[in-house]
Amino acid sequence: MGGLLIAIDGPAGSGKSSVARAVAERLGVADLNTGALYRAVALLALRETLDLDDGAALSDAAGSIELSPEGACVDGVAIAEQDLRTPEVSAAASKVSAHPEVRTVLLDVQRKAAEAGRKRGGAVMEGRDIGTVVLPDADLKIFLSAAPEERARRRAVQSGREAEFDRIQEAMKVRDRQDSERDASPLKPAPDAVTLDTTELDLDEVVSVVLELARKSEAGKGQTR
Ligand code: DC
Repeated sequence: MGGLLIAIDGPAGSGKSSVARAVAERLGVADLNTGALYRAVALLALRETLDLDDGAALSDAAGSIELSPEGACVDGVAIAEQDLRTPEVSAAASKVSAHPEVRTVLLDVQRKAAEAGRKRGGAVMEGRDIGTVVLPDADLKIFLSAAPEERARRRAVQSGREAEFDRIQEAMKVRDRQDSERDASPLKPAPDAVTLDTTELDLDEVVSVVLELARKSEAGKGQTR
């Protein structure tokens, strides 16, 4: 027994993190941000000047990281968000995430975190391959999309770098391409995911739709118990 597992996937700027955080808060369950794991590996790699093409060295680094509702942790201490959100770490995280060895190590880390969350009442897990690979049996799968320009605008506003819109949009295009075209767990909706285009929706509207779907999913689960 345990609570609902909700998978939220989508590209950068689709609203995943804000939606996941708000839905988890409303449901009183864990919010598990898996992008933080790839960012944490990238941060360790940059600090230790590891070769971003060396999958074995990167997967060793990945082995020292855990995921909790507080974020990516090393030795039980969460890494500060501001250290994970720099443009250098974003670019390196996309490269790191293309290594199958890294993904294999982080798969276990993510499933362990989801199971711990489920036992404590449920979890919302967000990323790129949660519905397809990490939690194929999730109770509810959401895939968020939005027009590329709108996604870049949100990122620029979120990071207070509106003046750098063009550069942000360009960097996002590169990451989108890398994330969607890689062989290992590319970004794509699971066949049973509900896709929501958030271009014209504000956060509250998206959160309401997801909460409604979660309510139906919970009711359906109750009937099959
Ligand atoms: O969601 P984010 O921008 O914090 O993710 C950082 C990078 O990690 C991004 O380039 C894609 C990758 N990622 C992934 O490959 N699989 C996940 N489940 C989450 C993130």
